[in-house]
Amino acid sequence: MSKEYNIAVIPGDGTGPEVVVEGIKVLDTVSAKEGFNLNYTDYQIGGEHYKKTGEILTDDVKLSLSKADAVFLGAIGHPDVKPGILEKGILLDLRFHFDQYINLRPVKLYEGVDTPIKGKGPAEIDFVVVRENTEGLYAGAGGCLKKGTPDEVAIQESINTRKGVERCIRYAFEYCRNRNKGKTLTLCGKTNVLTFAFDLWERTFYEVAKDYPDIKTDYAHVDAICMWMVKNPEWFDVIVTDNMFGDIITDLGAMIQGGMGVAAGGNINPEGVSMFEPIGGSAPKYTGKQVINPIAAIMAAQLMLETLGEKSAALKIEKAVMKVLKDDIKDVGAGKMGCSTKEVGNLVAGYIE
Ligand code: IPM
Ligand code: MN
Repeated sequence: MSKEYNIAVIPGDGTGPEVVVEGIKVLDTVSAKEGFNLNYTDYQIGGEHYKKTGEILTDDVKLSLSKADAVFLGAIGHPDVKPGILEKGILLDLRFHFDQYINLRPVKLYEGVDTPIKGKGPAEIDFVVVRENTEGLYAGAGGCLKKGTPDEVAIQESINTRKGVERCIRYAFEYCRNRNKGKTLTLCGKTNVLTFAFDLWERTFYEVAKDYPDIKTDYAHVDAICMWMVKNPEWFDVIVTDNMFGDIITDLGAMIQGGMGVAAGGNINPEGVSMFEPIGGSAPKYTGKQVINPIAAIMAAQLMLETLGEKSAALKIEKAVMKVLKDDIKDVGAGKMGCSTKEVGNLVAGYIE
């Protein structure tokens, strides 16, 4: 019997559904060629659903998602819903509930894609950020007092546990070893100011490094990393960092690899259910216009297959995407591709070997 995977699909809001359809098109093409089956179950979660029903993410949905092999997510975010409700109520809740403690974000510039960095090309821009995904400032520790008065106090603390930091760092070392490129892992922190949190990160980093003598270690402060990512992106192979810094530097990473139209990420629990998403938002103003680039969603699907162990299928998707980027798309930006969302999906599917 051929291998089967149950994929939970959350198309979500805005342009999410449009790009998810193209991701599934490519997944279906490659799975047929590789001889495995993907069964999809759709979940209507997001801003629209919340507006209609008042429901965000129910226990029933979580229970059902826990039985999937992976989750494929389009985008969550709605212009009529107050910021924070959907982000915390859906995206972060899913990451935390499924203990997806790694946010894996490749920053790779493909041939045919423009980077805003002068003088740099695909040979220089090819690294991966391993972002801790369940702790730090995102843990929600804190509170406020005397809200709305002149004496208001707001506290939001960064939670860093030895266990959480170590498992993230270990994953990054393993990933760096398997990636087998520069064999260099850079810790991105702020040891000169955040002397409690990043002291823990730094000590853990060098302790774990002893188990990986084949990997070179490096350290840079987060502000300097931002500088080097623009000035000398070729220095990086794998970067490991906390949740907040990882959030920030991967938006910078997305820009240097061509933009949100191509940037994908995986929220990974190596022992559980992982979730894959294009890292851009729901882009409400483009909804239904078929102008958004589905490559980010297709590359999220690619990352999903790679994580599920379907390496050959993942490689085929990457090759097809590379051909489309090199030969067919004028520009990766929304509305500038020279073809529609659907046409890009058709092209990628058509090039799958
Ligand atoms: C991301 C997003 C989320 C984050 C938001 C929407 C909560 O920016 O996936 O990077 O901050 O993690
Ligand atoms: Mn972000």
